[in-house]
Amino acid sequence: MKNSGFKFNPIMLALAVAIAATGCSDDDDNNDAPSPGNGETSSYRARATQMVEQMSVSEKLDVVSGPGSDQPINLTHDVSGAAGYINGVVNDNLNIPAVKLADGPAGLRINPTREGDSNTYYATAWPIGSVLASTWDKQLVEQVGEGQGNEGLEYGIDILLAPGMNIQRNPLNGRNFEYYSEDPILSGKMGTAMVNGMQSQGVAATIKHFVANVSETDRYYVDDIVEPRAMREIYLRGFQLAITNAHPLSLMTSFNKVNGTYVNERYDMLRSILRDEWGYEGLVMSDWYAGNIFAMNPLVPADPDAAVKQQMAGNNLLQPGNAKESLQQAYDAGTLTDDALDQNVIDILTQVQQTPTYRGYEYTNQPDLDSHAALARQVAAEGTILLKNTDTTLPITSGASLATFGVNQVNLYKGGTGSGDVNSAYAVNLLDGLSQQYQLNAELVDYYQRYFEENQYEEEVFFNTIIKCDDPMVSDNSDLMALVEDAAQHNDAAVISFGRQAGEADDRDSGRGDYLLSDSELDMVQQVSQAFHAQGKKVIVVLNVNGVIDTSEWATDVDAILLPYMGGQESGNAVADVLSGEVNPSGKLAQTMPLSYDDVPSSSTFEGLDTDSDGVIDETHMNEGIYVGYRYYTSFDVDVAYPFGYGLSYTTFDYGQPTIVENTLSTD
Ligand code: BGC
Repeated sequence: MKNSGFKFNPIMLALAVAIAATGCSDDDDNNDAPSPGNGETSSYRARATQMVEQMSVSEKLDVVSGPGSDQPINLTHDVSGAAGYINGVVNDNLNIPAVKLADGPAGLRINPTREGDSNTYYATAWPIGSVLASTWDKQLVEQVGEGQGNEGLEYGIDILLAPGMNIQRNPLNGRNFEYYSEDPILSGKMGTAMVNGMQSQGVAATIKHFVANVSETDRYYVDDIVEPRAMREIYLRGFQLAITNAHPLSLMTSFNKVNGTYVNERYDMLRSILRDEWGYEGLVMSDWYAGNIFAMNPLVPADPDAAVKQQMAGNNLLQPGNAKESLQQAYDAGTLTDDALDQNVIDILTQVQQTPTYRGYEYTNQPDLDSHAALARQVAAEGTILLKNTDTTLPITSGASLATFGVNQVNLYKGGTGSGDVNSAYAVNLLDGLSQQYQLNAELVDYYQRYFEENQYEEEVFFNTIIKCDDPMVSDNSDLMALVEDAAQHNDAAVISFGRQAGEADDRDSGRGDYLLSDSELDMVQQVSQAFHAQGKKVIVVLNVNGVIDTSEWATDVDAILLPYMGGQESGNAVADVLSGEVNPSGKLAQTMPLSYDDVPSSSTFEGLDTDSDGVIDETHMNEGIYVGYRYYTSFDVDVAYPFGYGLSYTTFDYGQPTIVENTLSTD
């Protein structure tokens, strides 16, 4: 993928000339400006400092508080489906355009269609963060970042609200799909690659959600009680690596509190650590309505001082907006100081100058979706993990006849829900992917398609409506039993697939149908395995899941297990590529799969406590400290189902006696 060159819009150019003629120049010679993200911000900061001197208090307050539901100030072009904006400034001296922000970690989230417009604005649904991390391939992840950045750029977006870099502390966090790993170093490296890729295209990346945002239940209120060492070594480390190595232009603070105070109100986090210690130069924005600024839950009254506390702590920008009035009152009362306000505006405008809109980029609305789809397929296949492969069950030669079981073959989950969802033009399910390379048992396909049509139901979740369908019990269904027996005689192998959906604003649960297989899923594994094994044939399970699920209960019943997680719009094709051996699976787990959920070190403290019995979870005690993921299992000799870093391939390897050649640890 090539970097896009900037083309200057004649209207912006005319404006710049007109402003220059009045003796001021907020568009001064940005043609030669350094590319965003190379860490060179001094010229932008100097210019932002001049700009602030030419702004009224009201204009400054507009910049630090997003427009909310109002029309953004000085919006030159809108992008339908943008998640937020930074207000622009227009006065006798300045003409700063509004800039546009859009989600998210698995691809650009904008509206795919627009009223009165026959064009479409689809984006690529890439494989989720856990898949990217499973590739352990920085170059490949950087390419995904380039693709995502290019789509943002060409669709007119300035700041991408991605990547998500929180630690997968517990398998049940609904948003784990947006994040990379249980390990901060791997997270930091993946985040670095993603930011570098995105920013190479001229758009800004936003690393989020800073920091220790490890659960979704009552996310606007929860207080994470975490010891300093764990905060430093586990929760801050990945962000630090991305900041040091990739200079993201933007960072989003999280919803949660840490040790009693909202992160976005903590001066120690936002100024002392981020800026003074790590030298962070980018802008800091809040998450949407974070910090109890409005009563998101009637059970918890809003804090009238939330906005000023965020400003005084160095949370530069309040998203999505509507905080101006409260900040004006704080300014009048002297609790919002000129110094803090000016500093926040300077931090924001330093980055705004580096955005495509400010630089006058003429976007085409025509990103290269075809090449991105090919890359998405490649990454989805390369990040797929082969968990089990007894007696070389896989690969299965193309052209073989397969019996496919489970409604998930039709009802693919391409990615998770919430702001991390992507409006892609299509998503290839397992059935469509496998049928490109195999002969599928037509009667079974027909059965599951019909069953899905007749039994699907909708579930409303944050931002989305998802379609679900529970698998039928096999053992008490004579029609289906007959199809299983027949398939076992006539097909070469069985492929069973399961799906698990999850996402923003809700956590998963440890029971049946979520962390554990449902009764009907277990029954399907047992019946299909018995029938196929009786004929000397193999059974393969494919896990189209948001995150870690149990395997202990059923893994011994089957011959091969493939973990593609959620592979994005090319999911089905990628699974077929791996099954057939077109691609050698070489994904390695970025998270541990425990023997039992109870073995997870945070199982007894997730998803927190309702300490005052008001119906809202308000505290999570992160008692495991630094012992998150493999750090716990290996330090305390706890057996696991599949360890961090695990993943088979179709090749066999021999290891000799290792020797130590370097006695220092590099994190490059
Ligand atoms: C999410 C953010 C997202 C924002 C804008 C919030 O609910 O937590 O990750 O970027 O919405 O859509």
